Amino acid sequence: MSLLDELNQLRTEALAAFSAAGDAKALEDARIKFIGANGRVKTLLGQLGKAPPDIKPQAGKLGNQIKNELEAAFESAKAANAAKGGVGGVATSAFDISEPLPVESRLSLGRRHPMTRTIDSLVDIFHALGFEIVEGPEIEDQRHNFDDLNIPADHPARDSFDTFFLSGNNQALLRSQTSTVQVRMMESRLPPLRVVAPGRVYRPDQIDATHHSTFHQIEGLYVDKNVSMADLKGTLKLFVGGLFGEDTKVRFRPSFFPFTEPSAELDCSCPACGGTACPVCKQTGWVEMGGCGMVDPAVFEAINSARGDNAYDPEVWSGFAFGFGIERLAMRRHGITDIRRFLENDMRFLRQL
Ligand code: DAH
Repeated sequence: MSLLDELNQLRTEALAAFSAAGDAKALEDARIKFIGANGRVKTLLGQLGKAPPDIKPQAGKLGNQIKNELEAAFESAKAANAAKGGVGGVATSAFDISEPLPVESRLSLGRRHPMTRTIDSLVDIFHALGFEIVEGPEIEDQRHNFDDLNIPADHPARDSFDTFFLSGNNQALLRSQTSTVQVRMMESRLPPLRVVAPGRVYRPDQIDATHHSTFHQIEGLYVDKNVSMADLKGTLKLFVGGLFGEDTKVRFRPSFFPFTEPSAELDCSCPACGGTACPVCKQTGWVEMGGCGMVDPAVFEAINSARGDNAYDPEVWSGFAFGFGIERLAMRRHGITDIRRFLENDMRFLRQL
């Protein structure tokens, strides 16, 4: 075989080797073998001196041409390899993408806080019942938190709504109940109204397993013509059914709230035992859900005087209202026994829910 033939064959072999190299290591081996400092191209060109004079110039020219061509082919094979996923020509096969990660380096996906998830499910249920979801401010004044809810300054009921005041003159406060949103809605909108307002409330309570200074309530207000206690009970039955299951029973116990008359406390059959008695319901078969009642006409009057009209004429409009503590609902739902867990952000707790 003449030197020219050998050069051409070497060229073919080298090109095939570069394009067959599946990773950076194989490619580098091919480079060393063919165009490296002691590679076959170099060796062959070293024989030029001994080549017959008639082919020497041609062989020299072809040799150089092949050397350049192979160097270019090597560079483009290297670039193609890197583009395939190797980093800077590092072998792609060094990464086995099907290999499971060691536990400690696995990313844990975030999720919504249990409180947020509970609020979302309450909101979904009330939305399906035709209620609009609204919000009110957490920083309030006396009028929205007390006066217009028929809790005058000298009324003993004010004591039962212990409140954080923000200023020396007791004007600004952190709302102690979401009932403030009832006032805000009626002040700013005309009847009929059908709203629920979930949100945070604050009370200077002694903190223990069932009390906290910061918790959530969901307030409901329904104002229309001829609204009755039966509407209230029917609505709350549907709500509790959506939350704990259709078979859940409800009952009213007489109670007192300044802004409702009559007022009631809503109980439902224990979601843990279905009403047969267990530690969750303290063996009674019933658990407390929260307060409710028919909007007291005195509240409508207070709203009218704040509005300066008679939009909520108690002779024309009637309504019901309710307010439930959301942590309590979530605790029942998930069997949580300490309200403080919701605010600690302990991952061991959050991961369980
Ligand atoms: N705001 C009351 C509380 O915090 C709960 C409540 C009771 C709200 C009766 C209502 C209601 O709307 O009608 O204890």
